[in-house]
Amino acid sequence: MTRKQIILGAYFPGVNHDTVWSDPASGSHIDFASFAHWARTAERGKLDLLFLAEGLRLRDRGGAIFDQDVVGRPDTFTVLASLAAITSHIGLAGTINSTYNEPYELARKFATLDLLSGGRAAWNVVTSSDADTGENFRRGGFLGHHQRYSRARETLELVRRLWDSWGSDAVVADKDAARFLRDGDVGDFAFSGEQFDVSGRFTTPRSPQGHPVILQAGESPSGRDFAAAHSDAIFSRYQKFDEAKAFYDDVKSRVAKAGRNPDEVKILPSAAVVLGDTLDEARDRHAEIHHRQVDPQTAIVLAEMVWNRDLSRVDPDGPVPDLDPTPDAPKWIRGRAPLTQDAHATAAAWRELGREKNLSLREVVKHVFDRAVFVGTPESVADEIDRYVRDGATDGFIVGSHVSPSGLDEFVDRVVPRLVDRGVFRSEYAGATLRDNLGLAPPARFGEPRRHDSSVAS
Ligand SMILES: Cc1cc2nc3c(=O)[nH]c(=O)nc-3n(C[C@H](O)[C@H](O)[C@H](O)COP(=O)(O)O)c2cc1C
Repeated sequence: MTRKQIILGAYFPGVNHDTVWSDPASGSHIDFASFAHWARTAERGKLDLLFLAEGLRLRDRGGAIFDQDVVGRPDTFTVLASLAAITSHIGLAGTINSTYNEPYELARKFATLDLLSGGRAAWNVVTSSDADTGENFRRGGFLGHHQRYSRARETLELVRRLWDSWGSDAVVADKDAARFLRDGDVGDFAFSGEQFDVSGRFTTPRSPQGHPVILQAGESPSGRDFAAAHSDAIFSRYQKFDEAKAFYDDVKSRVAKAGRNPDEVKILPSAAVVLGDTLDEARDRHAEIHHRQVDPQTAIVLAEMVWNRDLSRVDPDGPVPDLDPTPDAPKWIRGRAPLTQDAHATAAAWRELGREKNLSLREVVKHVFDRAVFVGTPESVADEIDRYVRDGATDGFIVGSHVSPSGLDEFVDRVVPRLVDRGVFRSEYAGATLRDNLGLAPPARFGEPRRHDSSVAS
């Protein structure tokens, strides 16, 4: 019997506490050469997609720029378009905010990326948890949480309508008859909702996938419902087996409640991988990397995100501070999603963990932020990845590493072949488009029910 196929993507992390940008093996986080190396490696491994996150404001701490955290992230569309030109099969997934962009522009840019790449575009729809970002768009604290999802819903509906406004056969480009379009009936649209009231003609022909693949990243109940009803895949942060499984079961039941087949929505947590020739070597390597990821300054800043106050006088190698968090004070760290809903409870839990295990503040932070899910030999890591998918905790992973861009090479060269040997990962791309490779049904036209095409690979 054919085993369920694992979906694999690769993310390019940027500068933050997941990476060690100062490692001698780390390349530039902004040069084209880095993105090109990363993309070519992922495609060599026949991975499903490349994934770029997005940050629309620099992070600051007490009013000064915090340069250890995602500096100078280049524009997603430009990076993905340039990567489309040097790759031929891999999907190109961009995180783009639905709060600060106009649907018409979003539809045009993603349709164009899909056209240029021959059907490989994907949009990770995020609403952004960060009202401060609005200042960059002269909107101040633009839209509360509920309104952001209502805007996301309408945006996606309108974008899909725009993508549907051109017939698949609208461009005839008949030179002999001097006729470019089949008829004048292209791009016609009208939409009136709570957020948007627009009508006109959409400029961009229907793209190879019709609708680029839709991803979503968000975790509140409204975020999960939005994803369950409208997305093809979800990027999640739930990586440990039990939490990943709980998220998977919750979201898949929401998909069923939304009247869709749970298999239609793929769940893909991010995962960092650290390899060694032996388990001990992998653990040592992980300990060393992790120590550098959470350096003393980073430990303080991550604690400040919980305490919402200046902790620069606290010794990171001393105990978790006995100070009260001040969640209601003006934000001390700006530009980052909140780490906790309940700062007092989180601070108490950190203190308890420190006391119980005799850990310093820095060690507690390291414990809490240990993002390396898979630490082991290529064989044991392949086993674990296989187990998560077989036992229903994920449909795959979006893989990163602490160095860019060369960190992915190890994974592609040493882990992927073992997944191929097990029969759970492809050795060749199944189809031409990202939808084909992910086993996703072609989109229905606006207003028509979605159709599952059983001939598509799964
Ligand atoms: C795994 C994950 C990754 C995310 N990545 C981004 C990102 O790259 N850029 C961004 O602006 N927001 C990102 N977000 C935040 C989303 O914008 C999301 O909308 C936000 O968390 C608020 O929605 P929620 O309350 O449903 O989580 C991410 C969220 C999650 C859970």
